[in-house]
Amino acid sequence: MMKKHIWGGLCLLALTACTTQRDPVEELLKQMTLEEKVGQMAQITVDVVAKGPNRYVSDEPVSIDMELLRNALVDYHVGSIINTANNRARTPAVWATLLNDIQTMATQETRLKIPVLYGIDAVHGVTYAAGATMFPQELALAATWNPELAYAMGEITAYETRACNLPWNFSPVLDLGADPRYARLCEGMGEDPYLVSRMGEQIVKGYEGPNNQISDPYHVASCIKHYLGYAVPVSGKDRTPAYIPDHVLREYHLPPFKAALEAGAHSLMVNSGIINGIPVHISYDILTKLLREELGFTGLIVSDWGDIENLVNRDKVAKDNKEAIKLAVNAGIDMSMIAYNYEPFCNDLIALVKEGAVKMSRIDDAVRHILTLKFQLNLFEQPTVNVADYPKFGSDEHGQKAYETAAEAITLLKNTNGILPLRKNAKVFVTGPAAHSMRPLNGCWSYSWQGQLADEFAGDYNTIFEAIQDKIGQNATWIPGVRYGQEMDYRVEYKERYDEALAAARRAEYIVLCLGENSYAEKPGDLVDLTLSKLQLQYAKDLLKTGKPIILVLAEGRPRIIREIASDMQAILMAYWPGNYGGDALAAIIFGEVNPSGKLPITYPSAVNSLVTYLHKPAEEQANSAGMYNYEGDFTPEFHFGFGLSFTDFAYTNLCVSTTEISGNEPLEIKVDVTNTGNLPGKEVVQLYTSDLVASMTPDVKRLRRFEKIMLQPGETKTVTFVIDASDLAFVNLKNQWITEPGTFMLRIGNTSLTHLFSYK
Ligand code: BGC
Repeated sequence: MMKKHIWGGLCLLALTACTTQRDPVEELLKQMTLEEKVGQMAQITVDVVAKGPNRYVSDEPVSIDMELLRNALVDYHVGSIINTANNRARTPAVWATLLNDIQTMATQETRLKIPVLYGIDAVHGVTYAAGATMFPQELALAATWNPELAYAMGEITAYETRACNLPWNFSPVLDLGADPRYARLCEGMGEDPYLVSRMGEQIVKGYEGPNNQISDPYHVASCIKHYLGYAVPVSGKDRTPAYIPDHVLREYHLPPFKAALEAGAHSLMVNSGIINGIPVHISYDILTKLLREELGFTGLIVSDWGDIENLVNRDKVAKDNKEAIKLAVNAGIDMSMIAYNYEPFCNDLIALVKEGAVKMSRIDDAVRHILTLKFQLNLFEQPTVNVADYPKFGSDEHGQKAYETAAEAITLLKNTNGILPLRKNAKVFVTGPAAHSMRPLNGCWSYSWQGQLADEFAGDYNTIFEAIQDKIGQNATWIPGVRYGQEMDYRVEYKERYDEALAAARRAEYIVLCLGENSYAEKPGDLVDLTLSKLQLQYAKDLLKTGKPIILVLAEGRPRIIREIASDMQAILMAYWPGNYGGDALAAIIFGEVNPSGKLPITYPSAVNSLVTYLHKPAEEQANSAGMYNYEGDFTPEFHFGFGLSFTDFAYTNLCVSTTEISGNEPLEIKVDVTNTGNLPGKEVVQLYTSDLVASMTPDVKRLRRFEKIMLQPGETKTVTFVIDASDLAFVNLKNQWITEPGTFMLRIGNTSLTHLFSYK
């Protein structure tokens, strides 16, 4: 392992000795040439400097090509590298070798000895690290409604990311998941701004550690993304235009980012998409006015992958690369995730500054943000770490948390006549394309971008079938019936031993049918029909003909529509993409060792033309008011946001409110008693909603304002207290102001009939 870099240490010591006032960033900035500054703003993918036939492909085993690295770091002063080579997970030891080569050159051969800022996507565990602890995807994490688990995921992921010598994590995703068609729904935390905010801030705190001391070698700098308004393109397809009025952007999309910034997030990645005709990468309004001037963000703003080039090639808002760079940098981008061709970026930006088209002050500002992060991460002092200092990498202790997270995420959506839990001596036939593969448990960003290497890297973990077999031995049998393909294209599925599977189903007592989606990420996950695939539906229908009760397990990144089969299923478990311990957690739930407590962080739609989320207006619920002809005008999702069953029952009583009228910023205290009236211990998510009964802009039917997850033993009662004030009742008007209008509001606890009216004066 590399020794502490002497120059950085001396420099800092010297600076502290002569003047405690001097800022090392400013000192360094003063010494830098324009070329060196511009280089800091350039970010490349590691394939560019790895040995291999070209910039897109690397040799295996992977190693750094010192000449290519020298060209990037010494000649072009490139400041940041990202990603893994050949899109493949590596062991911490391989990461150590790569980072050692990179940081040695950066801190010994470059004139100013500035370390490289290495960034990675460790979005549910360290995506690209063999042996890392893989948590459920963020959507599943949100289904736990347990901020402590969000913190734990952040903390463990930070530890393991650093163990790979990677100090900067492109996570969490804070995009509002308001469109179930969207391929990246699984990467975010669902459709409610409040839930995303509460969970997101905890992930940031977990990543960055106490007081955001990211110099600590067990924490990382978070990079919240994709600012702003990314996940709601009109088409439902990735990186296509969205039309979002400013007040909507502020009321629904901005709060999670604001919360994460308040939690101290050190950096931010920009939305690859286009809002109201303007690519966000050139939006001075969104990047500089809103983010810097209004929200006061002082951290690093990085572009998304190739998005400055996209301004030319895709969006046609710039005639060439140079104009694109000018627009993006002037809008507020500090660092360009160029990915491959860094030379034109550097040359063009240098020319732009010389011509006066980009001001030196803008360059200084950008480089200041970059250098500050490098200092904050203590990279000058300690550019690399020693793998041996991370004994808990991939440990059972970490795995236990990932298991708990999966166990609290999985959401029981249906349980007719209490069919679950099953007896351990029951004869269970496990089948379907997700039954015996790690890929549909992990989903996107797992060992590779698209997740197609999961069975190779995670073969030691239990698939759903293996986990069930662990519980009941030979009483479990498996035949796929339908299989997912091994290729990258997630849509490939085919019959495998189909008739044999139907025959086996006839002999079983229960069928555990595992359907859903094979892994995909980003654009390749675009789809034209949200309905579950024809073959999977057909298989479910053929299995139904056996007359055997079916427990449907859905392992999927977004809610594929199941209306053709849902009513015939005896039980439905939404597994999301639950990670490496998803199989174990599902089996524990199916056999009653774990009482499910997940609640949907999204609305599960029932039909492709009805994708309205729970955040909607009264006009979207018209069935009862509109009379005889309004057959399909109501809001009738398959399952509601916030819904999830337990094996025990909870009763809500004694809703008490401290006052029936508030004004100014007076608090309103709400108390409710929750009792476990069943026979099993269980966790319940107590949810508080408010409704504005009359407002100058048509209000949402209801809004989540607070929640708390509690554990109750059978017979136990707990009183849950929530405090809100007028700011919790506010909305953004057409002048972009948050206002709370006087009037009457209704409180509601979860889906209970407990409501209470109060007024704001
Ligand atoms: C994605 C980002 C990711 C980046 C780097 C992009 O394609 O949109 O979420 O952080 O690649 O891998």
